[in-house]
Amino acid sequence: MSMVIVFGSLNIDLMMEVEHQPQIGETVLTPTYKWLPGGKGANQALACSRSGIKTAMVGQIGDDGFGTRIYNTLKRDEVWVSSVGRHDSEPTGMAFITTDKTGDNQIVVATGANNATSGDQIPDEILGPDNVILMQMEIPHAENWDVIRRAKAKGAQTILNLAPAGAIPKDVLVDLDYLIVNQIEGRQIAEKMGLTIEDDAIKLAKTLAENADLTCVMTMGHLGAVVMKSNGTGWKVGAVNLGEDVVDTTGAGDTFCGVFAGCVFEKRSIQDSMRRASIAGSLACKSFGAQTAMPRSDEIDDALGLVDLATPIQ
Ligand code: RIB
Repeated sequence: MSMVIVFGSLNIDLMMEVEHQPQIGETVLTPTYKWLPGGKGANQALACSRSGIKTAMVGQIGDDGFGTRIYNTLKRDEVWVSSVGRHDSEPTGMAFITTDKTGDNQIVVATGANNATSGDQIPDEILGPDNVILMQMEIPHAENWDVIRRAKAKGAQTILNLAPAGAIPKDVLVDLDYLIVNQIEGRQIAEKMGLTIEDDAIKLAKTLAENADLTCVMTMGHLGAVVMKSNGTGWKVGAVNLGEDVVDTTGAGDTFCGVFAGCVFEKRSIQDSMRRASIAGSLACKSFGAQTAMPRSDEIDDALGLVDLATPIQ
């Protein structure tokens, strides 16, 4: 069966709402907190599945209650979880997240069992041309490189969300089909590659796409996103104007990635894919927690009138 395979992290998010983010040495009080399922990999898998795509999650949790909670959440939303391993000594990954009044956040991740995630969990048999592999950077990077190289040989399409940013070997980059970054991550990778660090998102995405011979998607929060192909063609898309309805931006980028991967799997046009991913990322900001407000496909359909199809960049 063909599907999107998400290879990546599963975390429990310890979430606190704060009046303002603490400065170094400052203590900030808040009345309560929540434990919610998260992790960039699990978030992206859930977003993809909710958008109506057959999705499998490959990763590692600990042999603890947190791991069980994330596992069950994914399973309830019809993500295939049979390739999620349970590590017998490392705990489930944990993210400490503070969200301020504007909906912006700060995150520290203790990777725990995610560090044991291995490319060996994905056999060559499922790296064929019918499948799409979606990855992020919260597991050992060498395992991603292994999967990207093998996918290139077997024909699966690969998408890497370079979050958090890290260096990528040049030979891996050229094997990759899609790179998804925000502007900060884009500048960081351009710097690591010794490229000109452009302030302008379109120029930055174009530099990365041309240099690595791939398609570069650059997300820009409430401003939407741009996409540039290596041949110099590109498109830009807006975002839903949520105004005062922004509650928490945690997981918005993950929602964009999961829905975009589903659109690539369905072979939608790049203009349509960018619009659906951007709408989904916006809608995900309407509730507290990474996974709470991730939309289903009918909710994305209902919001199509709020964002135009991506338009060509001249
Ligand atoms: O992108 C948001 C995610 O980053 C959170 O769910 C947290 O677990 C961290 O991995």
